[in-house]
Amino acid sequence: MLDLTFALTKGRLAEKTLSLLSQCGIHCEDLSEDSRKLVFVDPENHVRFFMAKAADVPTYVEQGAADIGIVGKDVLLEEQKDLYEVLDLGFGKCRMAVAGFPEGKKLLNQRGDFRVGSKYPEIARRYFLSRHQQPLILKLNGSVELAPIVGLADVIVDIVETGSTLAANGLVVLDAFLEISARMVVNKASMKLHAERINGLIQQMSEALRRMEDGR
Ligand code: PRP
Repeated sequence: MLDLTFALTKGRLAEKTLSLLSQCGIHCEDLSEDSRKLVFVDPENHVRFFMAKAADVPTYVEQGAADIGIVGKDVLLEEQKDLYEVLDLGFGKCRMAVAGFPEGKKLLNQRGDFRVGSKYPEIARRYFLSRHQQPLILKLNGSVELAPIVGLADVIVDIVETGSTLAANGLVVLDAFLEISARMVVNKASMKLHAERINGLIQQMSEALRRMEDGR
């Protein structure tokens, strides 16, 4: 049997992803260790794994370097790759929001003469376009909350989970406009070639998620 390859997201989704897979009898303990090794194999289940940066996961899956990916809806909306989104995993919940200093609310009603800092320039562009606004959007790669504080941007578009990063920096949510959670995605050709295995996996994952939900 051919190995199915999974692209998993490093960082905040990793722990819950590994625990979901282990609930499905798929073991990749090595991944959670502090190792420089990049690819791991579960020979019993004919499965291969690697961890990638969130923004790269859709690319690996679209191009077929991975059959399956686990990644946040935020990244899928930003990257807009051609793949199947097959399951909402229900964890990694957060909101996509415009945030800034409380007085930023006024700016949001202007036609577009303001600056927006974001790790999600496409999501930000589409959000403001839907409001007939075309602000200057500045792509940032992290610590986005800094932008309004040091005067780089008037507002930010970013994910808010607990809200503690905003609160610690005197910032507030001005408009929360998308609910985000982790999703399972599948390469289009893999879905045809391995339909039975992948559908079986989707079933197993849904059942494991229900068990995890009940056990809470
Ligand atoms: C994310 C996001 C916010 C923060 C929100 O950043 O960009 O900064 O988490 O979480 P909270 O509402 O629970 O405070 P991340 O930790 O991924 O790091 P980064 O800023 O380096 O991208």
